[in-house]
Amino acid sequence: MRALVRQLIWCLLKTPYAEARAAFSSYMGISADFQVRLATPADALTVADLHTRSWQTAYRGIMSDAYLDTVAPEERRVAWTQKLSASAPGNRAVLLAERSGCPVGFVCVVADEDPQWGSFIDNLHVIPEQQGSGGGRQLLRAAATWLIGRGAVGPVYLWVLEANTPARGFYRRMGAVETTPGWRNMPEGLRVPGVRCTWTAASTLAD
Ligand SMILES: CC(C)(COP(=O)(O)OP(=O)(O)OC[C@H]1O[C@@H](n2cnc3c(N)ncnc32)[C@H](O)[C@@H]1OP(=O)(O)O)[C@@H](O)C(=O)NCCC(=O)NCCS
Repeated sequence: MRALVRQLIWCLLKTPYAEARAAFSSYMGISADFQVRLATPADALTVADLHTRSWQTAYRGIMSDAYLDTVAPEERRVAWTQKLSASAPGNRAVLLAERSGCPVGFVCVVADEDPQWGSFIDNLHVIPEQQGSGGGRQLLRAAATWLIGRGAVGPVYLWVLEANTPARGFYRRMGAVETTPGWRNMPEGLRVPGVRCTWTAASTLAD
């Protein structure tokens, strides 16, 4: 605590306000410098790379090493090139987070995807070296804001793997309620237990 106060005072005395605020935010692990924008077809390979790198850490031990290291990179490239193509459905958006101009994470969201469960968060990933800095929260908020802008008024949901305890902790922190369990179809023909996380409305996520 004493070190924190010392750093804050040092920042305020020695640097302009904006720099002091950024240094303080970074010390506290608060993100002040993520930019989130809509991804375009030109971002397909970037999104694929973010996805692969995230899976290679988060799903190590759930999917095989052979799949993660040799199959996933090309498979993700094909998948995101299709998903971000001009013919992609209009109720889906991919939002890309950048920090100091470098891509660090993305979320894919589908408005009003299910009559009962509402809008669907299809993917949310922050690369391992940028996790814990507020990027996941900002991406979820951006997805919620996009949904609100489209007039999606119903609930919001996603699936998380049962074994993915860090992500489950994050979603609970973001106010999600774990509702129904269910099997998830994964690459390599794997079927893995998952948990559905729900929010009553996008507005509860955008705050
Ligand atoms: C899950 C993930 C998106 C979270 O993003 P992140 O940038 O690491 O999380 P943030 O820094 O935005 O965290 C926001 C808040 O959640 C909390 N949080 C993060 N991880 C947590 C955990 N494992 N347990 C409890 N709380 C957690 C943070 O402490 C922070 O809380 P605060 O309000 O007190 O500041 C990211 O870690 C990730 O990409 N993981 C690997 C891929 C993955 O599993 N994606 C989900 C697939 S369903």
